[in-house]
Amino acid sequence: MTITATAPTSQLPPISRIHQYPPEDLSRSLRYLRQIYNQEVRGIRRIGRKPSLKAVATLHEGAADTPETDRNLDTLRSDSFERSYAIRWLTALVAQSYRLLDSAGEDSTDTVQREALIQDAASLLAICAGSASAGTVTRVFRFHDGQLPIEVQLTDVPLENQDYSSVGAQTWGSACLLADMLVEDQHLFNLDEYGDGLRALELGAGTGLAGLTLAKLLQARGTACSLVATDFHPSVLSNLRDNFTANFPTTSSVDVSVHALDWSKCSTTGQNAQPLDQPFDLILGADIIYEPEHARWIQGCVEKLLRRPEKPHSRDEVSHPPAKFHLVIPLRPTHLLESSTVEEVFPPLTSLSSHRDLPTLAVMSKDVIVCEAHGDVRSRNGAADQVEYAHYIIGWC
Ligand SMILES: C[S@@+](CC[C@H](N)C(=O)[O-])C[C@H]1O[C@@H](n2cnc3c(N)ncnc32)[C@H](O)[C@@H]1O
Repeated sequence: MTITATAPTSQLPPISRIHQYPPEDLSRSLRYLRQIYNQEVRGIRRIGRKPSLKAVATLHEGAADTPETDRNLDTLRSDSFERSYAIRWLTALVAQSYRLLDSAGEDSTDTVQREALIQDAASLLAICAGSASAGTVTRVFRFHDGQLPIEVQLTDVPLENQDYSSVGAQTWGSACLLADMLVEDQHLFNLDEYGDGLRALELGAGTGLAGLTLAKLLQARGTACSLVATDFHPSVLSNLRDNFTANFPTTSSVDVSVHALDWSKCSTTGQNAQPLDQPFDLILGADIIYEPEHARWIQGCVEKLLRRPEKPHSRDEVSHPPAKFHLVIPLRPTHLLESSTVEEVFPPLTSLSSHRDLPTLAVMSKDVIVCEAHGDVRSRNGAADQVEYAHYIIGWC
């Protein structure tokens, strides 16, 4: 559906006569409202990799709206009069559900269609009403793996009293890029090699985009595995839990859970509680290094939680593929010190001596990826129109 910038007050069927409209017209109206208030986000647009690091530039064929349409939608979205009209209209549709169902034809598919319509209106009403509290945004992130799209519905909530430590209440560009890579560049994550039983962990998950995308992807692949999303800030954890429940309302082949994990305590405390007491095959981290001490804390967590290499096997034993930690951080000019600490605590593989007794965590590869900066996710790069991110793959060597 091509969205025009017509306002809900002039586009929607009159409130008093909603039940007289055919379900097809009402479905069209709901799709129209979703495009305004439950916007779908393209994710992130990769422009390319730095040529010295990898040869191929990656260009996205995004189904991006034109900037003009984006602007029109933004104007409508921020118009509180139009939003409260949309809420009233949706409330009326849900309130008229009995009349809508009564006027269903003999055909049972008509009733099913009307029930689906009412449910859709109720869920959109919850989103619109939630967004009415300042700063809350619910969006659908959509990534394509060449087959089915992977969709994640995420709510960002406002920073608590501008409390900087609640930054995880919002979705950052690194999470968007990591999610995009998980879907587009699955080979980088060796998902085929792990198969059933994969244990994945996200550190500093924030709103949960990267972990949720991985969980949705594994669900689409029919893999039986588990994903644990962690953070430490109470209000961030509460929003993270809500986002997981919204995306995984019922049990699935992927066992998802949300737990508190403070990096500063991870390496010093003894045994972690379940499910953090067992090692992980895959650890994800997006934009989790922005204070001088973070890299050292993260290294402590990864040392403790990333599955260590196994002792050499007899030929009949099944060996696991090597466990990996994927870290994506923005290369902000103002945070060069913090990003350089990554390479201090995780040395490049090439710098390691071959005479080591114990396995060491090292950077196995680093890619610098240039992305278009846009307003859908936070990038902390001010007005710059491009943002560079580093993607590190770290493992035991
Ligand atoms: C910049 S946000 C990134 C959030 C998310 N990964 C994203 O990219 O959208 C940093 C995240 O790290 C979390 N965090 C900061 N310090 C932490 C700590 N000591 N232990 C655990 N999580 C922490 C914050 O609560 C926040 O969710």
